Amino acid sequence: MKIIKSTKELQSIRRSISTKVGFVPTMGALHEGHISLIKEAKKQNDIVFVSIFINPKQFSINEDFSSYPIKKEADIKICALAKVDYLFMPEISSIYSQNEVLIKSPNQSYILEGFSRPDHFNGVLQVVLKLFGLIQARNSYFGKKDAQQLFLIQKMVKNFFINTQIIACETLRQNDGLAISSRNTYLLPQEKKEASLISKSLYCASRIISKNEFDVNIIKNEMLNILKNLNVEYIEFVNKNFQKITKVELKNTIILIVVKFKTVRLLDNIWV
Ligand code: PAF
Repeated sequence: MKIIKSTKELQSIRRSISTKVGFVPTMGALHEGHISLIKEAKKQNDIVFVSIFINPKQFSINEDFSSYPIKKEADIKICALAKVDYLFMPEISSIYSQNEVLIKSPNQSYILEGFSRPDHFNGVLQVVLKLFGLIQARNSYFGKKDAQQLFLIQKMVKNFFINTQIIACETLRQNDGLAISSRNTYLLPQEKKEASLISKSLYCASRIISKNEFDVNIIKNEMLNILKNLNVEYIEFVNKNFQKITKVELKNTIILIVVKFKTVRLLDNIWV
């Protein structure tokens, strides 16, 4: 595996590759979820690039960019073991310059995850567009767990005619159903047990829907019943265009949930 730090070197290496390239963008602190994206990319491409870049532009002022976990050595080992071909780890100064052209994300960026973090998705799209330009991958891999991010990236790719196919990968789960996330490591033992109720509530919703109950309020109440002792920030039902809905549309609905623990905010969703 070759580690690349400079954008010039990356571009020169990329020009020399004519076979199928897959790309997995990350902010590091890699876990099984990322490894599953890399495995998928390895299966479907000849050469795999992974980027590790903690993007300052996607953190709001009240979020602590400086305390985001950095696990450089462990991440390099994980990528090498997963047989990544190129690991791109740029400095902030090689990605951003003064007075840049900015991406402005669409309306769907200011609800749900974007509601209290209005610049978050602008920052995500800005960096992902740059990475797409640098790596020019045939296939780019994103997790369904960050459903709103996935939707916006798919929209950007369509709107800007970017020549990469977005591959949406299933959320990886622990045996108890908890979606794998770097944030899980911050949970206290009791919180870990409680957190498994999040996926249980989503599975319950899916069972209710399979019995032809499509009323969002009724389904939401059943979910809230399972989560009654937890601090639910939101449960929302959206269609695949990220518009809020009141009736479930089969094969066109995502149920999104965020639960807050003392220090951690856990996201999950299910596509029905
Ligand atoms: O999902 C992430 O890890 C980040 O938002 C991404 C896509 C790597 C952009 O910084």
